[in-house]
Amino acid sequence: SMSPVDYIKSHIRTVSDWPAPGVQFRDITPLLADPRVFRVLIDQFVHRYFDARPSAIAGLDARGFIIGSVLAYELNIGFVPIRKKGKLPFTTVEETYELEYGNATVEMHTDAVKPGDRVVLIDDLIATGGTMGAGARLLQRLGAEVIEGAAIVDLPELGGSARLKASGLPLFTLVDFE
Ligand code: PRP
Ligand code: HPA
Repeated sequence: SMSPVDYIKSHIRTVSDWPAPGVQFRDITPLLADPRVFRVLIDQFVHRYFDARPSAIAGLDARGFIIGSVLAYELNIGFVPIRKKGKLPFTTVEETYELEYGNATVEMHTDAVKPGDRVVLIDDLIATGGTMGAGARLLQRLGAEVIEGAAIVDLPELGGSARLKASGLPLFTLVDFE
């Protein structure tokens, strides 16, 4: 009787005051732990991207790897990890983005995508949008088209998803939390 999106939302746990006072952390681990809801979750993305025939799924370190790799496997296409700086062994490109205090850098292998590739970029959650934006720029610098950025959760009050859309990146998210 519950819609797939409500079923998914009901399995996201909110942890108050983590990792800092005042933060309401949206924790997807209960969603991953239950095989029925995990399948419903992955099927939402499979159905959205099956007809688009992307050439690859790119996933953002670390929680984007969990859903991105399963989605790539189900679509029978490759998976590209976009990692936090210093983890990838081969030649890399990097993008730095602003955090509340300081900045962060993500990296991708230079041979991970090629011009003309059509890639879906996935993560668990969009907050400020910095991570998703940096990942999209990496893919675009190597000549790939980012068909869409996708996430389970959007935190719209932080303005990240609106900024990403304003920059021209199509976005698909399943669940909003205020
Ligand atoms: C979280 C989350 C996203 C990002 C969203 O990851 O999983 O990747 O932050 O925030 P943003 O929209 O403001 O960039 P985190 O950096 O905590 O890393 P982790 O996945 O390694 O825990
Ligand atoms: N949950 C998970 N990751 C996050 C959050 C959150 O609420 N905020 C920023 N990154």
